[in-house]
Amino acid sequence: RGVMVVSTNDREQWGSRLGFIMAAAGSAVGLGNIWRFPYVVGMNGGGAFVLIYLAIVFIIGASVMLAEMAIGRGAGLNAVGSFKKLGGGAWPLVGWMGVIAGFIILSFYGVVAGWTIAYMLKSFTGLMEVASQGKAGDAFGAFVSNPTQVILYQALFMFGTIWIVFKGIGEGIEKYCKVMMPGLFLLLLVLILRAVTLDGAMKGIEFYLKPDFSKVTGGTVLSALGQGFFSLSLGMGCMITYGSYLNKDEALPSAAFTVTFLDTLVAFLAGFAIFPAVFAFNMEPAAGPGLTFITLPSVFSKMPMGAVFSFVFFLLLFFAAITSSVSLLEVCVAYFKDELGWDRAKASWVLGLVIFLLGVPSALSLGGHFPKIAGKDFLDAMDFVASNLLLPLGGILISLFAGWFWLDGCKKEISNQGRLPFVFEGIWVWICRLVAPVVIAIVFVKGLKW
Ligand code: PHE
Repeated sequence: RGVMVVSTNDREQWGSRLGFIMAAAGSAVGLGNIWRFPYVVGMNGGGAFVLIYLAIVFIIGASVMLAEMAIGRGAGLNAVGSFKKLGGGAWPLVGWMGVIAGFIILSFYGVVAGWTIAYMLKSFTGLMEVASQGKAGDAFGAFVSNPTQVILYQALFMFGTIWIVFKGIGEGIEKYCKVMMPGLFLLLLVLILRAVTLDGAMKGIEFYLKPDFSKVTGGTVLSALGQGFFSLSLGMGCMITYGSYLNKDEALPSAAFTVTFLDTLVAFLAGFAIFPAVFAFNMEPAAGPGLTFITLPSVFSKMPMGAVFSFVFFLLLFFAAITSSVSLLEVCVAYFKDELGWDRAKASWVLGLVIFLLGVPSALSLGGHFPKIAGKDFLDAMDFVASNLLLPLGGILISLFAGWFWLDGCKKEISNQGRLPFVFEGIWVWICRLVAPVVIAIVFVKGLKW
């Protein structure tokens, strides 16, 4: 009938603005928020670090997120395709780095996320008893060095991730994030209420919030930026991919701001669930996986109905993890769909399986069942390559692309072709052109230490 077929009409779309925001916040809120942020805060001067983190995340983080969303919606394509269409030349390499980062991060993310499923079940099958005898550390060690167990739960988690991505944007990712994100928030409030009403909770809150400026160094700023980028899912085309499914009428600046705000809120609140409890029972606010899988079970084992709170915590961690892992898989799936013409089903199952296999060495490495790479466990090596190399490099290049190369396109996309005011345009441009690339470059160079 002579009607022009607009290609974007064929593309899957988020059902609503809320759906998009829940999905993007789901990607951002992850393992990085619940266990890593509180610990990093504690080690970096408490409240002082929080202030620096807030400044960095809302100035640099939100700007790069806006740039990614604008690029994705502008092109209406996956990360590689977006740079091919809008930039040409060598720019698609930035997208490629993102797809590769997606493969790598999800490979080890799936392993740790699998632990959350195991610990949900363990909450009711003896973990509390073992932990109350002070043996949560031994139990954790025994668990992670049992290849059958770890790989089984990794497989289970990956199956869930693949299933949601296979169901698609609206019927899969959006639908599940719209349930799991409010669920996560509710569970978090339950845990906070429990933690802050314990005797001795104040000591934990003090440790968490009291600004200790003597601990603020150059390194503090670097940790804040590194934490912020990983936490906001920036630098690898996640928000480009999610932005490509967004309706042209929605406002981008408020979406980028809301997602940044929600991610920061959950990270901040996680500290209130964890530190009061840790201090109330005189435990060490120790580092990393230990805090989540060793200290917290010990804390729960000392509470009435501890098994229930333990289950609630690991369920929360599971929600946080799976709404992030689907975004990592979607970056890869979108590439194979758009560029290679695969259908969603084939892309989800094949790529999910490949990523699962790529994660097996990470799963084995923790029990010493896989050779170390230059002194690092395979899992840590993968984390290093993705978080310290690919994400910052991606962040720098995305900022430069938005600020210099495709600036007019970005401005049009962000203002919905001039129909919306773009209040912070002047500031945003210079953050993308100069501030973000320079600051990230400094962090990148510092982070090169293996
Ligand atoms: N933002 C997620 C977290 O905090 C991790 C993530 C990084 C997800 C990059 C997607 C892309 O756990």
